[in-house]
Amino acid sequence: MSILVTGGTGFIGSHTCVELLEAGYDLVVFDNFSNSKPSVIDKIADISGRGFKFYHTDMNDKNALKRIFADNQIECVIHFAGYKAVGESVEKPLMYYQNNITGTLNLLEAMTDAGVKKIVFSSSATVYGVPRKVPITEDEPLSVTNPYGRTKLMIEDILRDLYVSDDSWSIIMLRYFNPVGGHESGLLCEDPNGIPNNLMPRILDTVFGKQEKMQVFGNDYPTVDGTGVRDYIHVQDLAKGHVKAVERLMRVNEIQAINLGTGRGYSVLELIKTFEQVNNVSIPVEFSPRRPGDVAECFADTKKAYDLLGWKAELGVSEMCRDSYKARLMLMQGSDNA
Ligand code: UD1
Repeated sequence: MSILVTGGTGFIGSHTCVELLEAGYDLVVFDNFSNSKPSVIDKIADISGRGFKFYHTDMNDKNALKRIFADNQIECVIHFAGYKAVGESVEKPLMYYQNNITGTLNLLEAMTDAGVKKIVFSSSATVYGVPRKVPITEDEPLSVTNPYGRTKLMIEDILRDLYVSDDSWSIIMLRYFNPVGGHESGLLCEDPNGIPNNLMPRILDTVFGKQEKMQVFGNDYPTVDGTGVRDYIHVQDLAKGHVKAVERLMRVNEIQAINLGTGRGYSVLELIKTFEQVNNVSIPVEFSPRRPGDVAECFADTKKAYDLLGWKAELGVSEMCRDSYKARLMLMQGSDNA
């Protein structure tokens, strides 16, 4: 029996594949490389010391999905595949709905036809919109502010409807806070196509001279130092959370939404300062106006993850900054990420 991982060569998918292989699971992985590179396949195998079956395909190819389920004994699916750039989703909403929603419907149909009813879905804290309070618990009202976020919420709704129609499904929707870091080996990291908008990739771009100064969006928020506070979480911790979710799916039939965060918020300036100290670099900063749509503070209540999965984040911001830097450094040195 195998676990099918969709989008398995992406940032979170690749780290999760490593954790699953190291935990002894057999994997079938597919990706269309829309935001990742084929070389990641070998890196996953090198780190874990184990091979796995890979399909270069797209979730919009219904026949390919059918073939994957026909050719393999799939017990459970972890669904990462999807577009994830907020700005791009505002410019190209139809592309986002077509890919993320239709692709997920194709996947769920193929699962239904094959009698596979266990799925972990890669959701996001973006479904909380503008949080009423922090830390955010899973029962907070859901709302979204852009098409990317709407695809996450729509897929959660689809999964809730599916479970109402047939409670023999087992569904865990993991709501990630702000994933950063990279594999401790330096071999896997976030390597987005195009210009990144998120904080850690921007810090790295500044350190490596791709931009002169780090723009800090807003210094007048009601926070510790006026800059936005977020719950940064190391991608290796996130990956371990998926292994725990799979373990639970194997035992229990239910639908659950679970936050994956550290439960501790850091401001933009705190993260930049930690990065400078840990990696012995200097990051020039420039304040600019608040970014539209940003909230002052966002961090997770992590009790449910601990109670249900026995999971809590182990790595702190120092490790996140160390591993983000190391991985980007290796990438820049051309460690075969062609
Ligand atoms: C953003 C998305 C969110 C998505 C998440 C995925 C927006 C409005 N929100 O969340 O929907 O789920 O990424 O990871 O795009 N910052 C700077 N300078 C920069 C970049 C960021 O000061 O160059 C600040 C931001 O204002 C914010 C913090 O850093 O306070 C974190 O920003 P970011 O990494 O983009 O994450 P989110 O805004 O939490």
